[in-house]
Amino acid sequence: MTLHLCALTPDDAAAAAALHALAFADAWSEAAFAAQFNAAGAVTLGVFEEGGLVAFALFQNTGLEADLLTVATHPDRRSQGLARRLITRLMDDLAREAVTRVTLDVAEDNAPALHLYASLGFTEDGRRPCYYTAGRPVPVAAILMSKTLAA
Ligand SMILES: CC(C)(COP(=O)(O)OP(=O)(O)OC[C@H]1O[C@@H](n2cnc3c(N)ncnc32)[C@H](O)[C@@H]1OP(=O)(O)O)[C@@H](O)C(=O)NCCC(=O)NCCS
Repeated sequence: MTLHLCALTPDDAAAAAALHALAFADAWSEAAFAAQFNAAGAVTLGVFEEGGLVAFALFQNTGLEADLLTVATHPDRRSQGLARRLITRLMDDLAREAVTRVTLDVAEDNAPALHLYASLGFTEDGRRPCYYTAGRPVPVAAILMSKTLAA
């Protein structure tokens, strides 16, 4: 299967929302993605194959820092290195744009994401207790993580 990597545009908002709904209990709407992909500072990359969008990541670049707003891989395509590839590529691009630090937050019960971020060099900065509630019987903490980018 041939994979193509390219930046997402508002035309991809419906596909991004559909994929997000497979990944999150509190998925973003098509309108929310259209607005995000149009926003100043949005930095996106998606993985497309013949059937459409199978993974994407979205950072918000605020100048010296960028926040990973969301990342999702289709359930059938997980653990194949797609999110790692997307985040690595985007961090390389951000470093070239003079971004020196990337941040994110992740639910403390999200083992695949925590494993991925730790292996990419993110370290924990702190926690927000009881932050994530959607789709869970009891709220769980957000772990705040960051990584310094090499110039
Ligand atoms: C988190 C997510 C984006 C990762 O996407 P992916 O394309 O499968 O990621 P990769 O294949 O690049 O890497 C996943 C890593 O997690 C590991 N992993 C998978 N399941 C795991 C588990 N249950 N426990 C620990 N590690 C796990 C994989 O082995 C892989 O590590 P490796 O490269 O060292 O082998 C994907 O699981 C997803 O879409 N989840 C739902 C949405 C989400 O949680 N997004 C992140 C919010 S912060």
